[in-house]
Amino acid sequence: MRDLSGTNILVTGGAGLVGSHIVDELVREGAKITVYDNLIRGREEHLDWSRSNGNVTLIQADLRDRESLRAAVEGCEYVFHQAASWLRQCQREPRLSLDVNITGTFDLLEACVDFGIKKIVAASSSSVYGEGLYLPTDEDHPFNNDIFYGASKITNEQHYRCFYKQFGLNYVGLRYLNVYGPRQPYEAAYMDVIMNFLNRIDAGEPPQLRGDGSATVDLVFVADVAKANILAMKSDATDIFLNVASGRETTIKELALLLVKLAGMEGRLEPVFSPMDDGLVARRWGSPRKAREVIGFEAATPLADGLMRIIEWRRTRGRAGLPL
Ligand SMILES: NC(=O)c1ccc[n+]([C@@H]2O[C@H](COP(=O)([O-])OP(=O)(O)OC[C@H]3O[C@@H](n4cnc5c(N)ncnc54)[C@H](O)[C@@H]3O)[C@@H](O)[C@H]2O)c1
Repeated sequence: MRDLSGTNILVTGGAGLVGSHIVDELVREGAKITVYDNLIRGREEHLDWSRSNGNVTLIQADLRDRESLRAAVEGCEYVFHQAASWLRQCQREPRLSLDVNITGTFDLLEACVDFGIKKIVAASSSSVYGEGLYLPTDEDHPFNNDIFYGASKITNEQHYRCFYKQFGLNYVGLRYLNVYGPRQPYEAAYMDVIMNFLNRIDAGEPPQLRGDGSATVDLVFVADVAKANILAMKSDATDIFLNVASGRETTIKELALLLVKLAGMEGRLEPVFSPMDDGLVARRWGSPRKAREVIGFEAATPLADGLMRIIEWRRTRGRAGLPL
């Protein structure tokens, strides 16, 4: 197991949902952290706790700014790569998936080789699987993807393999299922349902479901995802892709009913239905087996507990420096 204390670590996208929780974990590990984020979606306040409790520097710059990126990589030993254009943004503006996700990642990998990075742990996505041809999707499932965002993640996976083979750059690629938790953006694909449901519940309105509510998600709590990243970095695992999944399928309708209950509105609000969104798969359910075997990862947080953490965060949001 690698000891990360005292090491210099770069976290791209470190002001975002997953990245900022990785930064929190790294503070607990005693690392020196550089966050590289253009703050298009991340927020400085997500770093309030880590900045006041650890050694954290924020570089506000774009992944497409090659010189700034190289300067940020220089002097680091390890890299966590989270920055990316998100699913809906890539669908709206496909060239972003090429320029930010693919070229930006390629530039990062080149810099990692040039500056002797020992290992990179990078965010991939269950989007590489597209609609599951069988469930739960394990890491051998084919790339059944047909959206730009998924294409960028598949391309990146291929590049991680090439940089490992040709230059010996160690990597672990983590295919996240549906990440949720405090600090999640209000318009994340899939997960905006949680925020939309809660916004409506708070306004005394029923949650509005897309489709008939039978679509499913595999919800994995963000602090667990951050732990998977740390485990992947500390382990000797390399040249491998692993699901980061709860291993449980939840229908959108179950999710809506659970949120109504947790918000104390049970029996008073019944979900209503609206047309299904394009680009979202009907079922998500990932196999957590390989990650358990290879890096000892378990998604430990029960769904109701994780959702309560979001409800509490929404109530206290705006107060600076909240530890999570
Ligand atoms: N959230 C999920 O459910 C989920 C699922 C699968 C994969 N992923 C992947 O995990 C990673 C982290 O996701 P997240 O949920 O934390 O997203 P997020 O949007 O909260 O975080 C991404 C961060 O990257 C930054 N960023 C975006 N474009 C950038 C650019 N051009 N230059 C510099 N910084 C930029 C954003 O400001 C943000 O802080 C992403 O690579 C995402 O594709 C997320």
